[in-house]
Amino acid sequence: MHNIIVNGQPLAADVDPQTPLLWVLREVAQLTGTKFGCGIGLCGACTVHVDGRAVRSCITPVASVEACAITTIEGLSPDGKHPLQQAWIAAQAPQCGYCQPGQIMQAATLLRDYPQPTDANIDAVMSGNLCRCMAYVRIRKAIKLAAASGQEMPPHA
Ligand code: FES
Ligand code: FES
Repeated sequence: MHNIIVNGQPLAADVDPQTPLLWVLREVAQLTGTKFGCGIGLCGACTVHVDGRAVRSCITPVASVEACAITTIEGLSPDGKHPLQQAWIAAQAPQCGYCQPGQIMQAATLLRDYPQPTDANIDAVMSGNLCRCMAYVRIRKAIKLAAASGQEMPPHA
């Protein structure tokens, strides 16, 4: 049994220790906002926060995050009004939407570390999150909108 904390709630997962966190989230916790893209840590679709760090859940064995605080897109904000979520809507960032939960989770760590990010900061932090729809310009616009909103980023695990 592996005990993790997901969006503030304890979760006991009776799975193999090497089971990727992604599948525990999607199939045990039924939190399907976190997406499977490549499965090898190269696309960012599966990005969640583990103790405040953006990690690729597809290559993170559940045993390695025992007792850690995990935040998924569902837990980023209690009401879907995280400044990034509002900016994403205002900028109409998504096309198909598949990559977007991972993009937002990665961007949340970007804005925590760089509240007013430069293009270079955005490139450095977001370059590992791929978008097959090429929505990069709108994603960048949304990040800048959130940064310019002056809203304090809510604390998240
Ligand atoms: S699905 Fe995890 S990085 Fe692509
Ligand atoms: S919006 Fe379609 S993959 Fe990014």
